[in-house]
Amino acid sequence: MFGFHTKTSQFLFSLSFWRIKVRVKEMNWTTAERAGLRRGRDQDKMAKMEVKTSLLDDMIGVGDMVLLEPLDEDSFINNLKKRFDHNEVYTYIGSVVISINPYRSLPIYTPEKVEEYRNRNFYELSPHIFALSDEAYRSLRDQDKDQCILITGESGAGKTEASKLVMSYVAAVCGKGAEVNQVKEQLLQSNPVLEAFGNAKTMRNDNSSRFGKYMDIEFDFKGDPLGGVISNYLLEKSRVVKQPRGERNFHIFYQILSGASEEFLCKLKLERDFSRYNYLGLDSARVNGVDDAANFRTVRNAMQIVGFMDHETQSVFEVVAAVLKLGNIEFKPESRANGLDESKIKDKNELKEICELTGIDQSVLERAFSFRTVEAKQEKVSTTLNVAQAYYARDALAKNLYSRLFSWLVTRINESIKAQTKVRKKVMGVLDIYGFEIFEDNSFEQFIINYCNEKLQQIFIELTLKEEQEEYIREGIEWTHIEYFNNAIICDLIENNQTGILAMLDEECLRPGTVTDDTFLEKLNQVCATHQHFESRMSKCSRFLNDTSLPHSCFRIQHYAGKVMYQVEGFVDKNNDLLYRDLSQAMWKANHSLIKALFPEGNPAKINLKRPPTAGSQFKASVATLMKNLQTKNPNYIRCIKPNDKKAAHIFNEALVCHQIRYLGLLENVRVRRAGYAFRQPYEPCLERYKMLCKQTWPHWRGPARAGVEVLFNELGIPEEEFSFGRSKIFIRNPRTLFKLEDLRKQRLEDLATLIGKIYRGWKCRTHFLLMKKCQVVIASWYRRYSQQKKYQKIKSSTITVQSYIRGWKARKQLRELKHLKRCNEAATVIAAYWHGTQVRREYRKFFRANAGRKIYEFTLQRIMQKYFLEMKNKMPSLSPIDKNWPARPYLFLESTHKELKRIFHLWRCKKYRDQFTDQQKLIYEEKLEASELFKDKKALYPASVGQPFQGAYLEISENPKYKKLKDAVDEKIIIAEVVNKINRANGKAASRIFLLTKNNVLLADQKSGTIKSEVPLGDVTKVSMSSQNDGFFAVHLKEGSEAASKGDFLLSSDHLIEMATKLYRTTLSQTKQKLNIEISDEFLVQFKQDKVCVKFIQGSQKNGNIPTCKRKNNRLLEVAVP
Ligand SMILES: Nc1ncnc2c1ncn2[C@@H]1O[C@H](COP(=O)(O)OP(=O)(O)OP(=O)(O)O)[C@@H](O)[C@H]1O
Ligand SMILES: [Mg+2]
Repeated sequence: MFGFHTKTSQFLFSLSFWRIKVRVKEMNWTTAERAGLRRGRDQDKMAKMEVKTSLLDDMIGVGDMVLLEPLDEDSFINNLKKRFDHNEVYTYIGSVVISINPYRSLPIYTPEKVEEYRNRNFYELSPHIFALSDEAYRSLRDQDKDQCILITGESGAGKTEASKLVMSYVAAVCGKGAEVNQVKEQLLQSNPVLEAFGNAKTMRNDNSSRFGKYMDIEFDFKGDPLGGVISNYLLEKSRVVKQPRGERNFHIFYQILSGASEEFLCKLKLERDFSRYNYLGLDSARVNGVDDAANFRTVRNAMQIVGFMDHETQSVFEVVAAVLKLGNIEFKPESRANGLDESKIKDKNELKEICELTGIDQSVLERAFSFRTVEAKQEKVSTTLNVAQAYYARDALAKNLYSRLFSWLVTRINESIKAQTKVRKKVMGVLDIYGFEIFEDNSFEQFIINYCNEKLQQIFIELTLKEEQEEYIREGIEWTHIEYFNNAIICDLIENNQTGILAMLDEECLRPGTVTDDTFLEKLNQVCATHQHFESRMSKCSRFLNDTSLPHSCFRIQHYAGKVMYQVEGFVDKNNDLLYRDLSQAMWKANHSLIKALFPEGNPAKINLKRPPTAGSQFKASVATLMKNLQTKNPNYIRCIKPNDKKAAHIFNEALVCHQIRYLGLLENVRVRRAGYAFRQPYEPCLERYKMLCKQTWPHWRGPARAGVEVLFNELGIPEEEFSFGRSKIFIRNPRTLFKLEDLRKQRLEDLATLIGKIYRGWKCRTHFLLMKKCQVVIASWYRRYSQQKKYQKIKSSTITVQSYIRGWKARKQLRELKHLKRCNEAATVIAAYWHGTQVRREYRKFFRANAGRKIYEFTLQRIMQKYFLEMKNKMPSLSPIDKNWPARPYLFLESTHKELKRIFHLWRCKKYRDQFTDQQKLIYEEKLEASELFKDKKALYPASVGQPFQGAYLEISENPKYKKLKDAVDEKIIIAEVVNKINRANGKAASRIFLLTKNNVLLADQKSGTIKSEVPLGDVTKVSMSSQNDGFFAVHLKEGSEAASKGDFLLSSDHLIEMATKLYRTTLSQTKQKLNIEISDEFLVQFKQDKVCVKFIQGSQKNGNIPTCKRKNNRLLEVAVP
């Protein structure tokens, strides 16, 4: 209903209003903010608030037809259709509930729904049968008003279902407890029993009630059920013997045959096959969706719960079986001698079985089917029955047996459900009676049924108007006359004691002479001809004579719900409802307690010649009782409507519904209801609903509700003629006004939702802010504490440092002072000592000689020296110059002396050693000395040469004849004669040569032949080069331009290099007076013919042992690898 434009507003709306279940009136957020939300106390209060809804909320169409605008048939039907399409099958006309049969199960009867409607006001929630049930039950319980719930509508409109819903709702909401529950269960379980015996499948309804039912449920003062009383009206007993096409007999017949065990069937002498029984219409023996077997079990169970004893149940089923079997008795004609027709039973087997079942004497029953005894004035006259009469008798017996059984069942159930206490009871009556019927062929039954409906309509009009009028009076509102059709006139046509149709019928039935249906019609034509609502072909009223649509054997009544044409045939018979006395007597004689009880008139002792009351008068009487009963109660109406003829869901046949609306007089009902004022509502809920529309009433109105409503209506500027103030209610004349109010409310609610949202958000933010603030204070205090703590600790530690410094400084100062004091004391002591010494020395000086000290010193020193030298003499080392021993010094002050003495001693023993040398030895040592000067620490080969004596002539040239030639060629003295290796300049390979050094020359000769290969005067030798390493290579450089130099310098290798180089040096020096240049380098240049080749010494591997290898690398480089 509330079409919100934005999702937000929708959300806020739903959140704020309905979901959180807060009443709008309590939404005074400004005060709530101040005093409410923050305090738990008020939150409790909020939780207790309940939702106040209204019928007007979320309406589809209008929930109450009174509010329909404009009000006409079309809009009425459209509104019903709209609601039906939205699964809203209930609609109100004021307090009347219109119920449309949905023909499918809707989820609107759940326990949750029961709870939803429980204790809620009628107009508070969307229309529902539970709302009406709740209202009725509460006003019964709380206001002590007896209630009746009148459910009307045509066959299949849902009356029986509605009555069950009402009963189950009341059972759900009333008190609980073992005893109460048993009563409830018995009341509820009476339904399946009565439905099995009294309902049948018809063309209109698969579970059509073929009897009228009124049930009084009785309650105690607390509203707990105590028991109930059921009244039944006019069972359609003709169905037992004959059913229209497509319809069935009563359910119980099919249920027994389908559901009873074989054993039970055998006991009842029945067979399972439906087709065996003439009374069972075969064309629709099975009904879709109906499980007869399961229903049979339900019925038996229900009978048990209701309190049927086993033998009673057995008897009931025996009667049912007997009825079924009666239909199989067939007659054949037999002519008698006296010319009278007589009938005879074709096959007596069935009769025999019936008699066995019912305990009737077979001959008695057989006779009852053949003769009829008429007793008049103590005279008994027996006449035979022809075949037709025999069949009539048979069917009459079957119908009577069944209808009496049904009545007995009702009585028996009543016995069970009867309230046990005698205290005053409150009563809720539920009337589920057949609705108005208009068929093609309408007979006595339809007449009776429609009469009943006329009466109900009458009481409806009366009570509705009465209630309306009473309300106006109660509320002090001026009563305006309402135009409506009063059907009392029709009721009068039927029930008037003198001229009513029923009276005419009774009269005809009782009249002596030939009585037929036609004579009855004639009578009607005479008596009722002038009646406005009666029509017939033979009527004296000329206006109907031309009505050819009306057959001769019919009459037509213009009922409040439409015209119905009745076939007069069978009226007399059905009204008489006669059972031949022979049959009732036969039944009474049965050895079967139930059957015996069903036919008390068969007791010959109680023979009553008076005719029993006719069916019509019986019915009239019971209807009158019912009406009387209803008039004493507060009525609640449920008007059932059938949406289609197909028993189908979702189909809404407008024409069919229109017809029902017309004959139920619903529009009339709405008009009556809103003739004066369309809408009324007590002041409190009205103010509650609309108070937000006016500043004075929102959010709280402190004064009386009526005053609030007055203020509200004045404020809204509603014209005065549009409303009236009753004592407790406001009356609104036009639905328009109400809808205007609703629109304003809707608009205002949207605004309020926004406001609530705003306030809520504000509150939320504020709460959040306050929390943050609180947090901030806590954090700040913690922080301040922390920082102060840190500051304090810093100050404390600084103080301690300062203190310790001061203490230290003080202590040191004190220490210094103490030390100073101590030194002063010591100084004083020393001074005193010196002073005393001086004094003493001055005193004793005269006793000492002047130089005694120095003398003593010198003497001591002499003694020490003496001792030193004497000791040294004994400790002297050997005279070997190489002996390193020397005694340790005895005194420190003799250090330098001791060292000097050691040096002098060494020099002395060296001199001594030298003095022993011969000239030869001297020469050798001179050479060695020379070698030392030249090579020590320069050439690695040198240390090895020190121990080798320089022999010079290693080759014995003069002695060895091999060298004779060489000796001859050299006439000078040979200083060195030795084999050397001459290195080949081209490849670095060595060739042995004899090296000779004479006083003036250096010679190289072939080793084998002794031929001189080269001879170089010493003056041409400019330089000798060698490496610093442990090899014997050396180069002899020749003076450039000399003769020998033409072949280039010599590169030689010798095992006695040091000796040869030394001797070459000494010889050159002595001969040329020039020092030979000896170059020690690991890289030097050698002149080979024209080229200068660099000879380079590298660290080589020890592949060839310790022999150095020489390799020519390139033109310029000759590499010598020294291991
Ligand atoms: N409220 C309902 N919800 C669902 N189905 C329903 C409802 N009311 C009625 N029906 C269906 O309609 C069928 C006929 O209803 P019901 O027997 O109550 O009609 P009735 O008015 O008592 O007819 P009759 O006058 O023939 O006894 C039910 O068997 C059921 O299937
Ligand atoms: Mg019914």
